[in-house]
Amino acid sequence: ISSVNEACSANFHHKTAVVIDVLRATSTIATALSAGAASIVPAETVMDARSLQRPEDIMAGERFCRKIAGFDLGNSPKDYHADAVKGRRIILTTTNGTRAIHKSTKADSVIAASLLNAAAAAKYALHLQRDVVVLCAGSHDDFAIEDGLCAGLFIEELLKLRVGRFELDDFGTAMHALFRDRAAAIRDTLLQSQSGKRLIKLGLREDIESCSCVNTLDAVPCLSGDSLILRNLS
Ligand code: MLT
Repeated sequence: ISSVNEACSANFHHKTAVVIDVLRATSTIATALSAGAASIVPAETVMDARSLQRPEDIMAGERFCRKIAGFDLGNSPKDYHADAVKGRRIILTTTNGTRAIHKSTKADSVIAASLLNAAAAAKYALHLQRDVVVLCAGSHDDFAIEDGLCAGLFIEELLKLRVGRFELDDFGTAMHALFRDRAAAIRDTLLQSQSGKRLIKLGLREDIESCSCVNTLDAVPCLSGDSLILRNLS
C-alpha cells in the first residue's frame, strides 16, 4: 500500500487507486450508488460537466461547498435518496474529490472510498489483487485529516482480512496510527476538522454527521470508462 496526499505525484501503473474525499465527494458517490443511481460521471470542471450532459441526466456538484447555480443537486449525501436518483446517470463535479478521481485514471482500477464504505472497498481492493495507492483528496492541495482517518480505517479493514503479503509506506503507517488513535472519536474529529468547520459555518453540520458513519454501506463505486458504477462482492 502507498498512501499519498492529493498534492503528491503517485505512480498508478498496474495499481488499484483508492480515492478518498470523506467531506463530501466520495461519501456522496457511495450514497448515490447505494440509493440506486445508475452511474456517476466525475467531471473536473463545471464546463466539462455541462458538455457531458444528456437530457435525462442529473447535474450535481458544488463550488465553495454550495450547489452550482442551475444544477439539480449539490454535494450533500442526504439529497441522494432513491426518489431523487434511482436509475439515473449523475454528472458530478466537486472542488477536490472529482479532481482526485481524474488524477488517478492511470491506475488499473479506481475505487471511491469513504468512512461509509471502507470495509467493502478494502474487500474489493483485495479481490483485484494489485498493489494499492490510497489517494487522499484533501482540500485545495492541503492534507485533510478526515481523509487520512479514512485511509487509516481502510488499512485497518485490510489488516482484518489478513490475506497475503502486506507492506505499508510511511504515510500509510502514519494514517493507520491516526485511525487507531481516533477510532473512538471519528465524528468529533470530522466536526473539528478544517473542512468540517467550513461546512458547519454553511449550516451543513448534518452532512458531517452522515459522513461520519463507519461501514454502513456495501457499495463499492468503481470507475468503468468515464463512469463510476457499483461493484459489490457480498
Ligand atoms: C470536494 O470534492 O471538494 C468536497 O467534496 C467539497 C464539499 O464538501 O462539497
